[in-house]
Formats: sequence, structure tokens, C-alpha cells
Amino acid sequence: MSDFDQLIPPGLADFLDLESARRIVDVGCGTGDFTTYLLSQASPTAIAIGLDISTELRRVRSSEDLWLIRAAAEKLPIHSEWADLVICRRLLMNLPEPTLALGEMKRVAKRGGLVAALEPDFLAERGYSTVPGELAFLRKLLLLTSEGNDLGFGPKCVELFKHSGLVEIEAYVHSPVTIGGSDRFPTAHRERKPRRFEGLIAEWRTELEPHLELSELQALENEACELDRVRVRQLQTGEYASASSFPLWIVRGRKLD
Ligand SMILES: C[S@@+](CC[C@H](N)C(=O)[O-])C[C@H]1O[C@@H](n2cnc3c(N)ncnc32)[C@H](O)[C@@H]1O
Repeated sequence: MSDFDQLIPPGLADFLDLESARRIVDVGCGTGDFTTYLLSQASPTAIAIGLDISTELRRVRSSEDLWLIRAAAEKLPIHSEWADLVICRRLLMNLPEPTLALGEMKRVAKRGGLVAALEPDFLAERGYSTVPGELAFLRKLLLLTSEGNDLGFGPKCVELFKHSGLVEIEAYVHSPVTIGGSDRFPTAHRERKPRRFEGLIAEWRTELEPHLELSELQALENEACELDRVRVRQLQTGEYASASSFPLWIVRGRKLD
């Protein structure tokens, strides 16, 4: 697991009552890093199951107390009322029908158990950069490459939980800050290495092509090159600084029936 995961909000372990959780299910677990974190905070005899539709992202391995399974969130291969905690992070925002997945999560939770979700609101992202146009460019890229994802899902999660029949619903918001080019904010998540915007366009080419004419794609590439040029110059002179933050909604509900 990375030394600092900005998507593990302060107070999460208490909010999820992890200490007393013995059976944990992490749906859409991706690399498995978050599942590993959850297990590390639970009771020593706890076990966790991480499920994901894809195995490509997986970084950790199954072990005695951590089982990683390929499965769809809409049809979890787990007995009803098995888990003390059923959780997902950045999953529901990607699904065409998040209510189906939440219904499954509720089914798998024990009576009295918790269901929880951590979902961002990227539409409320705010930031600052010394490179004019940098943040607007990144936002444009995000909007163009996130077809099928609900970028403003975070705050909708509370209503979704209410409609699912969960009770004692509580939520809080954490706003992780990402900074670039400066060490002045020791508590912020620091960009590991400077991004090259030209590289980002290449990375997202398949997603971008259906939305853009060739001339628009070329204009985007030119914009990326120009931003890279200014940014690299500013990084060399020590002038560069940027910071951005988005709200991450953390919601939990209890299953009573
Ligand atoms: C943004 S990643 C989040 C991964 C992990 N939860 C985290 O926060 O680090 C979203 C994950 O959801 C998975 N996913 C998307 N649709 C899914 C589905 N229908 N059932 C299960 N997993 C799904 C993707 O494969 C991906 O690993």
C-alpha cells in the first residue's frame, strides 16, 4: 500500500466501527490496497473479501484472511447476511444502476451490520495553479473521458442510502488536497512526479477520439504542449505551484431488516 492514501479520510476507522468488524466486504476493490487497509484496522481475527469485475488493477494477493474474487457488484457471490461491514470506494459513481449494487451490498450485510460508500464530487473540485489554464484543461479532459460516470455522485449517495431502506444514515465530507511543485503543505498529498499533459492525451486517446473531430484533438494536443512548456519552465525556476481539492463523501447506514 502507498505510504499515504489521500482517499483514507481521518476518522474513517471509527466511523466504520472497524475495530469490531470480523467480516468485511469491499466491492469494486481495484488494487486491493483499500481492502488491505480495512483489514489492518479490524480485529486480529477478521477476514475481508475484495471483489472487482476486473483483475487487471489488482496489486495485492489473496491470503488466509484476504480473499480477492472476480465478480460484478450487481451480483455478489456471497451469502446473504454474511458481513459486519460491506463497503465500496469510488464504485457507485461508475455504475449505470448504482441502486442494484447498493441492494446487493445491503443483502450481504448482517442485520445490525453497516453498509458504507466513499464517493467523490469531482464537479465541486476547486484549485489554483500558477500555469494559466492548467486546471481548466484538466477539467475539460476529465469531462471528456468520463462518459458513463457520474462525476458529481458524492452528495447523491445520502439519498440513495435512504431509498435503499438502510437506517441510521450518517455522512461526512473529507476534502483531500493535491499539490504540485511545492513542499510547503506537508499534510497534502504530493504529486509523485510532474504530469506531462501531452502524455495524458496519449493515454486517453481511445476515450477522446469518439468525442472530438481530428482538428479538435489536435487543438487539445497543442494546448497540452503549451501547458507542458510553461509548466516545465516554471518548475525549473521554482515558480510553479498548484493545489486542488474535491469533496469525498463518506456515507454509512445500518441494515435492520
Ligand atoms: C476507481 S476504481 C476504485 C478502486 C478502489 N475501490 C479504490 O478506491 O482504490 C473503480 C473500480 O470499480 C470496478 N468496477 C467497475 N464496475 C464494476 C462492477 N459492475 N462490479 C464490480 N466492480 C466494478 C473497476 O474495475 C475498478 O476497479
